[in-house]
Amino acid sequence: MKKQIDWLPVLSQCKENIQKEIAPLLKTLNQPQPNLGIGAGGDPIKQIDLAAENAIIKTLKEYGLSFTLISEESGIKEHGSNPEENYVTADPIDGTTNLMRGIPFYATSIAVSTKPELRAVHTALVADLFHDVTYTAKKGRGAQRNGQKITPSKQALLEEAVVGVDLNTYKLRKVVPQLTRLIEKTKHIRHLGANALELCYVADGTTDAFIDIRGKLRATDTAAAWLIIKEAGANITTPDGKPLNAKLDPKEKLKFIAAANQKIYRAILSLIKA
Ligand code: IPD
Ligand code: CA
Repeated sequence: MKKQIDWLPVLSQCKENIQKEIAPLLKTLNQPQPNLGIGAGGDPIKQIDLAAENAIIKTLKEYGLSFTLISEESGIKEHGSNPEENYVTADPIDGTTNLMRGIPFYATSIAVSTKPELRAVHTALVADLFHDVTYTAKKGRGAQRNGQKITPSKQALLEEAVVGVDLNTYKLRKVVPQLTRLIEKTKHIRHLGANALELCYVADGTTDAFIDIRGKLRATDTAAAWLIIKEAGANITTPDGKPLNAKLDPKEKLKFIAAANQKIYRAILSLIKA
């Protein structure tokens, strides 16, 4: 019979071990960095990304778990005797550029699912590693920030709202016309540089929406925050209003609108040209 695993303590331990492993590397960021090739997600691998990924693998093995790791860095790797029992989707460091440049907004993101599919994710953790703030969710049990239940904002007016928009793309000429009407109506536009964490800011009411319609964001960056957003009671859909789903694979890309409540979600949807 399949072993029942209490995943939240396991994911919290992963986060603790990541913090321990990356601490010495944070002191060497101004030194020349080794060339470690390109990761499965298509970006150059940094030593710090690998250290964080290794901390996740080591922790899961210490718990004696069998799992398939789907990671932005080393791709899809099976561990243990029954790797299809658990799928662990990780972006070991989301916001690596922020981290490397000393901008204190970066996270680790880990999601657990029964299948390599977004809507099968049942447990999730996104941790702001700089400020030591941890967002967690379990399917059907709500979402928490450092163990306290979170809810999204009730802000309905774009004129007052804080809305994250990721414009970090080489396809700007295609994406900007789709967003012009929204940007014209919204007074406070942001992009903070670690999308898993920006989604959690919508989940806990820090911001009111976050939109990424570039078609560039990896499913590995989104898997954990997807559950946190949904369990907090906010909305996340495709840009044309359909439920969000994706294969969990480092090469899979997503587009989405995440919004705190129905009113602001509908306002955004009506202004975006999908
Ligand atoms: C990046 C961040 C960034 C987004 C990029 C992502 P990474 O994640 O989430 O905000 O604009 O598209 O790749 O590469 O640091 O894990
Ligand atoms: Ca990353």
